Amino acid sequence: MADGTDLLDPGERLDVAALRALQLERLRACLRHAYENVPFYRRSFDKAGVRPEDCRSLDDLARFPWTVKADLREHYPYGMFAVPRDRVRRIHASSGTTGHPTVIGHTDHDLSVWADLVARSLRAAGARPGDTVHVAYGYGLFTGGLGAHYGAERLGCTVIPASGGMTARQVRLIQDLRPGIIMVTPSYMLTLLDEFERQGVDPRGTSLRVGVFGAEPWTEEMRREIEERFALDAVDIYGLSEVMGPGVAQECVETKDGLHLWEDHFYPEIVDPLTGEVLPQGEEGELVLTSLTREAMPVVRYRTRDLTRLLPGTARVFRRMERITGRSDDLVILRGVNLFPTQIEEIVLRTPGIAPHFQLRLTREGRLDALTVRAEARPDADRRVRETAARTIAAAVKDGIGVSVAVEIVDPESLERSVGKIRRVVDLRPR
Ligand code: DLL
Repeated sequence: MADGTDLLDPGERLDVAALRALQLERLRACLRHAYENVPFYRRSFDKAGVRPEDCRSLDDLARFPWTVKADLREHYPYGMFAVPRDRVRRIHASSGTTGHPTVIGHTDHDLSVWADLVARSLRAAGARPGDTVHVAYGYGLFTGGLGAHYGAERLGCTVIPASGGMTARQVRLIQDLRPGIIMVTPSYMLTLLDEFERQGVDPRGTSLRVGVFGAEPWTEEMRREIEERFALDAVDIYGLSEVMGPGVAQECVETKDGLHLWEDHFYPEIVDPLTGEVLPQGEEGELVLTSLTREAMPVVRYRTRDLTRLLPGTARVFRRMERITGRSDDLVILRGVNLFPTQIEEIVLRTPGIAPHFQLRLTREGRLDALTVRAEARPDADRRVRETAARTIAAAVKDGIGVSVAVEIVDPESLERSVGKIRRVVDLRPR
């Protein structure tokens, strides 16, 4: 069809009434599946005095208990699985920094839905069958690489499975193989940018026309910088391993107005992170997700810790979530002032000589909490530039957020990364 509706799959063509009916039917099936096959859910529903059949409307979901990351950890490795092991086709694990990681299983059907949803996400981002997609998310237990990979193949694209790292080689591959689409963390995209410039190659002259960026928080400033310096469209992709991986929500390239959440497979709620109260549409709080079609590991009211708001659909029937503004567990309360790493990011990004890679380190000096912003210098920043940058950042934090912080400018690439992501908050305060 010339009007573009052929770009939508059947799920995207539902109207709101049909979508809500489908969600309820799938939600009831998911609650039953979890209750009957996972002892953890049976215990937690029984304790809360609810049964799957008590869910008669979508609002009834609010009567069911949460699932949190610690529940998944406690049932390491296979205790949350709802199907026999021989039906589990693939394992992923989330990057746990303390204790056990969390292990996630997928059946054939789960993997197929995942590929469909990443294909849908890529289409929304502006990719088309026949495009070449450079995947620079890490391959392995992390869901970024393989999740992006199978979705791009499902759409009918040619995939370059570059994975993360070896930056000089990535630049070479992009020049030689001429991909139209790149899927990568936004911070690594900026590392690629520096490498293009180091090699004397104009980043605006590449074949790339769309970048699909996610796996970590980023800002409108970062979008502007990437779009301008690479001459491409930058869109946001969201997901988490506990619920699936990349492709839970995706921003449409034609509107760039937040991420449409693929609601035919995940039911979203926004709750007050402190009281757990379900908040009305438009209010900011923590995103809670319930899987509607997952077989190997259904999740019921999973507390993502990601902060956002839900908004009505625009380019698609599904509701949108706003760009993630932070994590409820990354909220730093410093001498009474609430502060999110994204606020620091905005400041770091506009400081000359500084790369957009930083970490917040919390310590205690005497009885007072102290915060050090550690930011990486750009390769060409000399000592004078670094000193000026440190003063500029400290002053901007003081003016804009209202707290005094120490600033340490560290060498390029010296902050530790795990699957391409820098841990934003390191809390070294004694417990
Ligand atoms: O990061 C899955 C993914 C891979 C998403 C590639 C997008 C692209 P995890 O390692 O389990 O899974 O980390 C999930 O990363 O709860 C958010 O805090 C954060 N995150 C993911 N996407 C975004 C985004 C993958 N677009 C955690 N904006 C989530 C902000 C994001 N934060």
